[in-house]
Amino acid sequence: MIEVRDLYKSFNGRDYVLKDINIRVNPGEFVVVLGPSGAGKSTLLRCLNYLSPPTAGEILIHGERCHGQRKAARRALRKRIAMVFQHHNLIGRLSVIKNVLVGRMAGIPLWSCLLQVFRRHDVDIALAAIDEVGMAEKAYARADSLSGGEQQRVGIARALAQQPDLILADEPVASLDPKNSRETLAYLRSVCQKKRIAVLCNLHQIDYAMEYATRIIGLSGGSIVFDGPPEKMNVSVIESIYPGIEDDNVAKLVIRMSGEIRRQKSQVAQVG
Ligand SMILES: Nc1ncnc2c1ncn2[C@@H]1O[C@H](COP(=O)(O)OP(=O)(O)OP(=O)(O)O)[C@@H](O)[C@H]1O
Ligand SMILES: [Mg+2]
Repeated sequence: MIEVRDLYKSFNGRDYVLKDINIRVNPGEFVVVLGPSGAGKSTLLRCLNYLSPPTAGEILIHGERCHGQRKAARRALRKRIAMVFQHHNLIGRLSVIKNVLVGRMAGIPLWSCLLQVFRRHDVDIALAAIDEVGMAEKAYARADSLSGGEQQRVGIARALAQQPDLILADEPVASLDPKNSRETLAYLRSVCQKKRIAVLCNLHQIDYAMEYATRIIGLSGGSIVFDGPPEKMNVSVIESIYPGIEDDNVAKLVIRMSGEIRRQKSQVAQVG
Protein backbone atom coordinates (compact mmCIF):
# COMPACT_ATOMS: atom_id res chain seq x y z
CA MET A 1 0.00 0.00 0.00
CA ILE A 2 1.23 3.50 -0.87
CA GLU A 3 0.52 6.26 1.58
CA VAL A 4 1.05 10.01 1.28
CA ARG A 5 0.86 11.83 4.60
CA ASP A 6 0.42 15.58 5.15
CA LEU A 7 2.25 16.50 1.95
CA TYR A 8 2.85 20.20 1.20
CA LYS A 9 4.74 21.74 -1.70
CA SER A 10 5.91 25.31 -2.15
CA PHE A 11 8.27 26.53 -4.85
CA ASN A 12 8.92 29.95 -3.31
CA GLY A 13 8.57 29.25 0.41
CA ARG A 14 5.47 31.47 0.57
CA ASP A 15 2.66 30.07 -1.59
CA TYR A 16 1.66 26.44 -1.44
CA VAL A 17 0.97 24.61 -4.70
CA LEU A 18 -0.05 21.47 -2.76
CA LYS A 19 -1.65 21.57 0.69
CA ASP A 20 -2.43 18.91 3.23
CA ILE A 21 -2.40 16.02 0.75
CA ASN A 22 -3.30 12.67 2.30
CA ILE A 23 -3.79 9.68 0.02
CA ARG A 24 -3.71 5.91 0.48
CA VAL A 25 -3.60 3.76 -2.64
CA ASN A 26 -3.98 -0.01 -2.48
CA PRO A 27 -2.31 -2.48 -4.87
CA GLY A 28 -4.29 -2.76 -8.11
CA GLU A 29 -6.23 0.47 -7.56
CA PHE A 30 -6.52 2.72 -10.62
CA VAL A 31 -6.77 6.22 -9.22
CA VAL A 32 -7.40 9.10 -11.60
CA VAL A 33 -6.53 12.63 -10.48
CA LEU A 34 -8.84 15.21 -12.03
CA GLY A 35 -8.42 18.95 -11.72
CA PRO A 36 -8.19 22.17 -13.69
CA SER A 37 -4.96 23.39 -15.23
CA GLY A 38 -2.63 24.61 -12.49
CA ALA A 39 -4.38 22.56 -9.76
CA GLY A 40 -1.10 20.82 -8.94
CA LYS A 41 -1.64 17.41 -10.59
CA SER A 42 1.81 17.17 -12.23
CA THR A 43 3.49 18.62 -9.16
CA LEU A 44 1.85 15.91 -7.05
CA LEU A 45 3.25 13.13 -9.26
CA ARG A 46 6.68 14.79 -9.33
CA CYS A 47 6.67 15.04 -5.52
CA LEU A 48 5.82 11.36 -5.21
CA ASN A 49 8.98 10.23 -6.98
CA TYR A 50 11.09 13.10 -5.66
CA LEU A 51 11.69 14.66 -9.07
CA SER A 52 10.47 17.71 -7.17
CA PRO A 53 10.91 17.00 -3.45
CA PRO A 54 7.96 17.75 -1.17
CA THR A 55 8.35 20.75 1.16
CA ALA A 56 6.77 18.76 3.99
CA GLY A 57 5.14 15.40 4.52
CA GLU A 58 6.08 11.83 3.93
CA ILE A 59 5.57 8.97 1.51
CA LEU A 60 5.36 5.36 2.69
CA ILE A 61 5.42 2.22 0.57
CA HIS A 62 4.17 -0.85 2.43
CA GLY A 63 4.70 1.08 5.66
CA GLU A 64 8.30 1.91 4.83
CA ARG A 65 9.22 5.58 4.96
CA CYS A 66 10.70 6.75 1.67
CA HIS A 67 11.34 10.36 2.42
CA GLY A 68 14.57 12.04 3.37
CA GLN A 69 17.30 13.86 1.60
CA ARG A 70 19.53 10.82 1.29
CA LYS A 71 20.30 9.87 -2.29
CA ALA A 72 20.05 6.16 -1.49
CA ALA A 73 16.51 6.59 -0.12
CA ARG A 74 15.44 8.44 -3.27
CA ARG A 75 17.04 5.88 -5.53
CA ALA A 76 15.26 3.08 -3.68
CA LEU A 77 11.96 4.98 -4.00
CA ARG A 78 12.41 5.55 -7.74
CA LYS A 79 12.98 1.83 -8.28
CA ARG A 80 9.54 1.16 -6.83
CA ILE A 81 7.76 3.88 -8.77
CA ALA A 82 7.56 3.86 -12.58
CA MET A 83 6.46 6.72 -14.82
CA VAL A 84 4.35 6.78 -17.97
CA PHE A 85 4.73 10.05 -19.85
CA GLN A 86 2.42 12.01 -22.12
CA HIS A 87 4.88 11.76 -25.02
CA HIS A 88 5.99 8.23 -24.08
CA ASN A 89 9.70 9.29 -24.28
CA LEU A 90 10.78 6.28 -26.32
CA ILE A 91 14.08 6.20 -28.19
CA GLY A 92 12.83 6.08 -31.78
CA ARG A 93 15.82 4.38 -33.40
CA LEU A 94 15.82 1.53 -30.85
CA SER A 95 13.60 -1.53 -30.98
CA VAL A 96 10.56 -1.95 -28.75
CA ILE A 97 12.36 -4.53 -26.60
CA LYS A 98 15.41 -2.31 -26.05
CA ASN A 99 13.14 0.55 -25.05
CA VAL A 100 11.37 -1.72 -22.59
CA LEU A 101 14.69 -2.96 -21.20
CA VAL A 102 15.35 0.66 -20.24
CA GLY A 103 12.66 0.06 -17.62
CA ARG A 104 14.99 -2.51 -16.05
CA MET A 105 18.04 -0.31 -16.19
CA ALA A 106 18.15 0.26 -12.44
CA GLY A 107 18.99 -3.44 -12.05
CA ILE A 108 21.31 -3.74 -15.06
CA PRO A 109 25.04 -2.97 -14.91
CA LEU A 110 26.12 0.14 -16.86
CA TRP A 111 28.41 -1.81 -19.23
CA SER A 112 25.49 -4.01 -20.21
CA CYS A 113 23.37 -0.95 -21.10
CA LEU A 114 26.20 0.65 -23.06
CA LEU A 115 26.98 -2.52 -25.03
CA GLN A 116 23.27 -3.35 -25.28
CA VAL A 117 23.94 -6.87 -24.04
CA PHE A 118 21.20 -7.98 -21.68
CA ARG A 119 20.70 -10.90 -19.33
CA ARG A 120 18.17 -13.56 -20.36
CA HIS A 121 16.26 -12.88 -17.16
CA ASP A 122 15.80 -9.18 -18.04
CA VAL A 123 14.90 -9.99 -21.65
CA ASP A 124 12.24 -12.45 -20.44
CA ILE A 125 10.72 -9.85 -18.13
CA ALA A 126 10.72 -7.27 -20.95
CA LEU A 127 9.10 -9.70 -23.41
CA ALA A 128 6.42 -10.62 -20.87
CA ALA A 129 5.67 -6.92 -20.32
CA ILE A 130 5.42 -6.36 -24.08
CA ASP A 131 3.04 -9.30 -24.34
CA GLU A 132 0.88 -7.88 -21.52
CA VAL A 133 0.13 -4.81 -23.64
CA GLY A 134 -0.57 -6.82 -26.81
CA MET A 135 2.63 -5.82 -28.61
CA ALA A 136 4.42 -9.20 -28.83
CA GLU A 137 4.42 -9.17 -32.62
CA LYS A 138 6.21 -5.85 -32.70
CA ALA A 139 8.83 -6.60 -30.04
CA TYR A 140 11.71 -6.15 -32.51
CA ALA A 141 10.23 -3.29 -34.56
CA ARG A 142 11.80 0.15 -34.32
CA ALA A 143 9.90 2.31 -31.85
CA ASP A 144 9.53 5.14 -34.38
CA SER A 145 7.71 2.83 -36.80
CA LEU A 146 4.78 2.45 -34.36
CA SER A 147 1.58 4.47 -34.14
CA GLY A 148 1.07 6.86 -31.22
CA GLY A 149 -1.22 4.37 -29.46
CA GLU A 150 1.26 1.53 -29.89
CA GLN A 151 4.10 3.73 -28.62
CA GLN A 152 2.12 4.52 -25.51
CA ARG A 153 1.49 0.81 -24.94
CA VAL A 154 5.27 0.31 -25.15
CA GLY A 155 5.58 3.14 -22.60
CA ILE A 156 3.32 1.10 -20.31
CA ALA A 157 5.37 -2.06 -20.97
CA ARG A 158 8.54 -0.17 -20.04
CA ALA A 159 6.91 0.84 -16.74
CA LEU A 160 5.72 -2.74 -16.11
CA ALA A 161 9.22 -4.14 -16.79
CA GLN A 162 10.44 -2.12 -13.83
CA GLN A 163 8.13 -4.30 -11.68
CA PRO A 164 7.07 -1.29 -9.63
CA ASP A 165 4.62 -0.97 -6.74
CA LEU A 166 3.22 2.25 -8.20
CA ILE A 167 2.89 3.68 -11.71
CA LEU A 168 2.54 7.44 -12.09
CA ALA A 169 1.02 8.50 -15.40
CA ASP A 170 0.81 12.21 -16.25
CA GLU A 171 -1.82 12.70 -18.94
CA PRO A 172 -0.83 9.49 -20.76
CA VAL A 173 -3.51 9.88 -23.43
CA ALA A 174 -3.27 13.62 -24.08
CA SER A 175 -1.76 13.09 -27.53
CA LEU A 176 -3.96 10.17 -28.59
CA ASP A 177 -7.29 9.98 -30.44
CA PRO A 178 -10.35 8.70 -28.53
CA LYS A 179 -10.03 5.08 -29.75
CA ASN A 180 -6.35 4.82 -28.81
CA SER A 181 -6.95 6.71 -25.56
CA ARG A 182 -9.56 4.18 -24.47
CA GLU A 183 -7.38 1.25 -25.52
CA THR A 184 -4.37 2.65 -23.63
CA LEU A 185 -6.36 3.29 -20.45
CA ALA A 186 -7.96 -0.16 -20.66
CA TYR A 187 -4.54 -1.83 -20.93
CA LEU A 188 -3.12 0.26 -18.11
CA ARG A 189 -6.02 -0.58 -15.83
CA SER A 190 -6.24 -4.28 -16.60
CA VAL A 191 -2.53 -5.13 -16.40
CA CYS A 192 -2.10 -3.16 -13.20
CA GLN A 193 -5.10 -4.87 -11.61
CA LYS A 194 -3.69 -8.23 -12.66
CA LYS A 195 -0.19 -7.44 -11.38
CA ARG A 196 -1.49 -5.64 -8.26
CA ILE A 197 0.30 -2.42 -9.19
CA ALA A 198 -1.27 0.83 -7.95
CA VAL A 199 -1.75 3.58 -10.53
CA LEU A 200 -2.07 7.33 -10.08
CA CYS A 201 -3.05 8.84 -13.41
CA ASN A 202 -3.64 12.53 -14.19
CA LEU A 203 -6.35 13.16 -16.73
CA HIS A 204 -8.32 16.09 -18.08
CA GLN A 205 -11.18 13.99 -19.45
CA ILE A 206 -13.98 13.49 -16.92
CA ASP A 207 -15.60 10.77 -19.08
CA TYR A 208 -12.42 8.68 -19.25
CA ALA A 209 -11.91 9.13 -15.52
CA MET A 210 -15.40 7.84 -14.79
CA GLU A 211 -15.10 4.99 -17.28
CA TYR A 212 -11.72 3.62 -16.17
CA ALA A 213 -10.91 4.77 -12.63
CA THR A 214 -11.67 2.59 -9.66
CA ARG A 215 -11.37 5.82 -7.67
CA ILE A 216 -11.21 9.52 -8.49
CA ILE A 217 -9.31 12.21 -6.61
CA GLY A 218 -10.38 15.77 -7.34
CA LEU A 219 -7.64 18.36 -6.92
CA SER A 220 -8.43 22.05 -6.92
CA GLY A 221 -6.12 24.89 -5.91
CA GLY A 222 -3.64 22.36 -4.52
CA SER A 223 -6.12 20.65 -2.16
CA ILE A 224 -8.03 17.41 -2.40
CA VAL A 225 -11.71 18.32 -2.70
CA PHE A 226 -13.04 14.86 -3.60
CA ASP A 227 -11.85 11.31 -3.06
CA GLY A 228 -14.24 8.52 -3.94
CA PRO A 229 -15.49 5.99 -6.48
CA PRO A 230 -16.64 7.30 -9.87
CA GLU A 231 -20.33 6.70 -9.15
CA LYS A 232 -20.11 9.26 -6.31
CA MET A 233 -19.33 12.01 -8.81
CA ASN A 234 -22.18 14.50 -9.19
CA VAL A 235 -22.72 18.11 -10.19
CA SER A 236 -21.64 19.59 -6.86
CA VAL A 237 -18.45 17.48 -6.88
CA ILE A 238 -17.69 18.74 -10.40
CA GLU A 239 -18.25 22.33 -9.22
CA SER A 240 -15.88 21.83 -6.32
CA ILE A 241 -13.17 20.42 -8.59
CA TYR A 242 -13.72 22.96 -11.37
CA PRO A 243 -14.94 26.15 -9.61
CA GLY A 244 -17.01 28.36 -11.88
CA ILE A 245 -17.75 25.63 -14.39
CA GLU A 246 -21.25 26.00 -15.77
CA ASP A 247 -21.58 23.40 -18.43
CA ASP A 248 -24.85 21.53 -18.88
CA ASN A 249 -23.19 18.92 -21.05
CA VAL A 250 -20.67 18.06 -18.33
CA ALA A 251 -23.45 17.92 -15.74
CA LYS A 252 -25.56 15.60 -17.94
CA LEU A 253 -22.53 13.40 -18.67
CA VAL A 254 -21.67 12.99 -14.99
CA ILE A 255 -25.28 12.23 -14.00
CA ARG A 256 -25.66 9.69 -16.82
CA MET A 257 -22.32 7.95 -16.20
CA SER A 258 -22.65 7.79 -12.42
CA GLY A 259 -26.15 6.27 -12.87
CA GLU A 260 -24.78 3.69 -15.31
CA ILE A 261 -21.89 2.73 -13.01
CA ARG A 262 -24.28 2.34 -10.05
CA ARG A 263 -26.57 0.12 -12.16
CA GLN A 264 -23.63 -2.01 -13.35
CA LYS A 265 -22.29 -2.40 -9.82
CA SER A 266 -25.68 -3.39 -8.42
CA GLN A 267 -26.09 -6.00 -11.22
CA VAL A 268 -22.64 -7.43 -10.43
CA ALA A 269 -23.57 -7.51 -6.72
CA GLN A 270 -26.87 -9.33 -7.48
CA VAL A 271 -25.13 -11.90 -9.71
CA GLY A 272 -22.45 -12.35 -7.04
N1 LIG B 1 9.12 24.37 -11.15
C1 LIG B 1 8.17 25.22 -10.77
N2 LIG B 1 8.47 26.41 -10.23
C2 LIG B 1 7.50 27.26 -9.83
N3 LIG B 1 6.19 27.01 -9.93
C3 LIG B 1 5.81 25.85 -10.46
C4 LIG B 1 6.78 24.89 -10.91
N4 LIG B 1 6.11 23.79 -11.38
C5 LIG B 1 4.80 24.07 -11.24
N5 LIG B 1 4.61 25.29 -10.69
C6 LIG B 1 3.33 25.91 -10.38
O1 LIG B 1 2.56 25.00 -9.63
C7 LIG B 1 1.19 25.11 -9.97
C8 LIG B 1 0.66 23.73 -10.32
O2 LIG B 1 1.27 23.33 -11.55
P1 LIG B 1 1.06 21.87 -12.15
O3 LIG B 1 1.90 21.81 -13.37
O4 LIG B 1 1.29 20.88 -11.10
O5 LIG B 1 -0.48 21.91 -12.54
P2 LIG B 1 -1.33 20.82 -13.31
O6 LIG B 1 -2.53 20.55 -12.49
O7 LIG B 1 -0.48 19.68 -13.70
O8 LIG B 1 -1.79 21.64 -14.63
P3 LIG B 1 -2.04 21.10 -16.12
O9 LIG B 1 -3.38 20.45 -16.09
O10 LIG B 1 -2.04 22.34 -16.95
O11 LIG B 1 -0.93 20.17 -16.48
C9 LIG B 1 1.09 26.11 -11.10
O12 LIG B 1 0.71 27.36 -10.54
C10 LIG B 1 2.50 26.18 -11.62
O13 LIG B 1 2.77 27.44 -12.16
MG1 LIG C 1 0.14 18.83 -15.49
